[in-house]
Order: sequence, then C-alpha cells, then structure tokens
Amino acid sequence: DSIQPFVLLIFGATGDLAKRKLFPALYNLYRDNFLNKEFAVIGVGRTEMEISQFRLFIKESISEFGRLPLQEGAEWERFAARFDYIAFDITEPDAYTSLLAVVEERERKTNLMGNRMFYLAISPQLFGTVSNSLERSGLTNTAGWKRLVVEKPFGHDYASAKMLNEEIKCSFTEEEIYRIDHYLGKEMVQNIQVIRFANFMFEPLWNNRYIDNIQITASETVGVEDRASYYDCTGALLDMVQNHMLQMVMMVCMEPPGRLNTEAIRDEKVKVMHALRRYNEEEVDRHIVRGQYTAGEGGQGVVCAYREEPNVNPASITETFVAARLFIDNFRWAGVPIYIRTGKRMQKKVTEIVIQFKALPNRLYFNKNDDVAPNLLIFRINPREGITLLLNAKKQGTDSQVVPIGMEYCNDCGDASPEAYESLLHDAILGDPAFFTRWDEVSLAWKFIDPIRRTWDKNSRAPEEYPAGTWGPAESNEMILNDGRRWWTGE
Ligand code: BG6
Repeated sequence: DSIQPFVLLIFGATGDLAKRKLFPALYNLYRDNFLNKEFAVIGVGRTEMEISQFRLFIKESISEFGRLPLQEGAEWERFAARFDYIAFDITEPDAYTSLLAVVEERERKTNLMGNRMFYLAISPQLFGTVSNSLERSGLTNTAGWKRLVVEKPFGHDYASAKMLNEEIKCSFTEEEIYRIDHYLGKEMVQNIQVIRFANFMFEPLWNNRYIDNIQITASETVGVEDRASYYDCTGALLDMVQNHMLQMVMMVCMEPPGRLNTEAIRDEKVKVMHALRRYNEEEVDRHIVRGQYTAGEGGQGVVCAYREEPNVNPASITETFVAARLFIDNFRWAGVPIYIRTGKRMQKKVTEIVIQFKALPNRLYFNKNDDVAPNLLIFRINPREGITLLLNAKKQGTDSQVVPIGMEYCNDCGDASPEAYESLLHDAILGDPAFFTRWDEVSLAWKFIDPIRRTWDKNSRAPEEYPAGTWGPAESNEMILNDGRRWWTGE
C-alpha cells in the first residue's frame, strides 16, 4: 500500500466546504480503496456537539452531495468510527493541548505513524493563528510527515498574501504547504498537459505562428448565493481571475517542462506569470472590462440586480464579471491575445478553453466560400468534459462546399469523473503537490492583479451593466469584435 496511514484534522469541520466537498470526497476515496486501511479524521469546530451528531452530519453530507450512494449498516459504521470531533475556540492557543491529546489517543489506538494533515477550511484571517498554535502546542512536532492544506483566498493582495505566507512558513516548509485551487483538481484541467505533451501533433502548432488567439470562459448562472458579505468586498477579479483563470492560462501557455515532475511543471508555470504583461492604468481601461449584473431572466425566471441582493451594498461597485485581453510577452506567444471572461448570472454555466488557429493564407483554395471556419481546439471543462477539434471538410454530396465538422471526445460519458476535491485530497495524502499552487505562482498572480484593482479603486467608476442571463456587458463583445474576432463559447 503506497498510501500511508494518516490522521486528517479538519478545521471548520461543520462548515459549508466540509459538508459539500470534503466529507463526500473522503467517502469516495474510501469506497474506491484509495485510502490506507488505517486513517482517522478529527473534526474541529466551534459548535459543541456529540460525536453521534457529528457522524450524522457527515452521513447527511454524503447522502446529499456524494458521488457514490451511501452504504448503510456495518459498512457505514466502519467508516464513521474513524471520525472524532472536538469543539474549541481555535483562536485560543491553550485549547490546542486537548486537541493534541485526542490526536495522540487516536495514534496510540491505531498505528497512524504520526502522519498528520491539517486542513484549514476556515477564514483565511485565521490561517496564521492556527498554524502558529499547531506548532506551539506540539502538534506539528511529530515522527511522521506533516502537511498543511489551505483554502483560497490566499490574501487579498500581494502584501497580505506575503504576510500570510510568512506566518504559515514559521510552522511549515513550502514543501509541506498545499494551497488549494480547486480548478487544478478538475479532470479536464489536468488533461491539458496530457493532451499537449502526449501528442506530437499539437506541440509544433502551439505558438504564435499557428494560433490566432486563445479564449478562456468560466461563466456561471448563479448569483452571489448566500456569500454576499464575502463577495461584495471581493469581486470577480479576486474571486476567479487571480486564481482559477490565471491557473488555466498557465496550464495552456507553459513551455513543455524538461520532466513531467511537480517542480519542473511548476517552474514552467511560473515563467508564464513572469512573462504575463502587467498593465498600467491606461492599459487597464483598454484591455479589461468589468461588469455588474442588473435584473434579468436568470435561468429560473426573473432575478434581481446584484445591488438588490441581500447583504449587498445598494450602491456597490463590485464587479460580478470580468473580461480581459492578456498578452504573454515571450517568443512563443508574442502577439497572441488571450481573452478571458468570467462572471455570475450569465447565460450558461460553462468552463471552456478555445484555441483558435490562424485562418488559411489568403483563402488559398476556397475563395468562393468566404466563411471557411477557423480550426478550433476546445477543452470542455464543465459541465460537459471533453475535447472538440473543429476541422473543415467537404459537404457530403456537393463538389467543394466546405463545412465545419467536429471531432469529439467525451471524458465523462461513461463513469462520472471524480470530483476536484477528491483528486486533490488524494494527491495531498500521497504527498504530491503538483496540482497545488506554489508560493511564487500565487505571488506573481497578485502582482498582476494588484495594479488592476488599484486602478479600479482609484477611479471609483461603476462597472458596466449587463442584464442577468446574458453573456456580460456589451463592452466585452466590443473588445473582441474590435480585434476582428468573436467569442466562441456560447455561440
Ligand atoms: C470559487 C468561487 O472559487 O469557484 C465561486 O469562490 C465560484 O464564486 C466557484 O462559484 C466556481 O467553481 P466551479 O467549480 O463551480 O466552476
């Protein structure tokens, strides 16, 4: 068994993330035999509850959000018996002594080899406090390995992220820190490097000689849901662009690494961030569009404007949509625009990367037909998973009428793919940080984002409006149309 025994401590064990993602992911890993026979989970929360109540909470979370149906009876009991719960105030350093006692007790009962994973599913303001107390209490002083998993957001700008990093680095080394970006756990995001580097036919074309532009869309139909207090002081730029969107840019644009190992891949990703053009104020206005939704048809009927959502400031200028034209100033990508677009309350939930190849030279053969479509390679990330390659072919039964044909690969038409959290938790347990973000990636992402945020904060103009249920403000279309191009996703 290559997976070692371990104890997983979940801080924020009664919270939303644990309920929706972590417990179902653990259960799936357990059922699929991806965990060592010996493991234990200790939930830490503020709410006092009996262990039976906590296990019931886990059971409900798995029934509601799990990929696999819950097995009742003895099988369930065996799984549930691995869970403990302890309630205490995590800002209180002395309270960690009792946590240490619970962990040591578990470790004595089962041979967990002192391997400890600390998962912080709590407010980022507390990351430093908790990691500090873990060290002071002796919890990080263990004979086995120790790992710290932290959720986003990792800071709210470069300075705060740096401070946070320095805090946690007092207790954990960079190799022991697993920063989550759940997009890196998605099947098709992980597939980008396989498609690129396991096929000889794409790499020669993967540059500014053959690629006209790249488009990355991550649109959602939901509004702010019940997270308005977080979202209204965050906005789409920090919520989606700083992390998920830039991670996808890195995956698509990085150079082939010398080896397909974790650090070599992350080194190449970092180089993309170094080459990503940073914008001054004037360029921010020219290359970046921000939007905010107004009332409109949002899927399940008419929905209210962002400013009318509960807990949103009625005069809020927080953006719920961002579209941007990015450039990577290196030999491979010079001159190739990378258009990105993300937002709430858009027409469809879809995450997709489109690689648009250049047009035929001067319509060499098919000048009668003005609209020979460009070749597109589409990575479908969500909700359908797969790849489409759009080619041109002769229309059946005609002489030379050209029509686009799609070659499709469906990644989830058989079994449902594992959830992002399943795959990430599995990697963290194995000790493979390849699909977690390294500090230099995060810091460079902030250095790109900060001037944009500062420009917007300075001019305090309201974002462009777009009705809920649409593809964003008109300015997003204009930006790409003015370049003689169009968005493909959603067409
Ligand atoms: C999260 C953001 O990181 O990603 C949310 O905070 C967003 O606002 C979510 O809804 C989108 O993730 P997915 O996997 O549904 O595309």
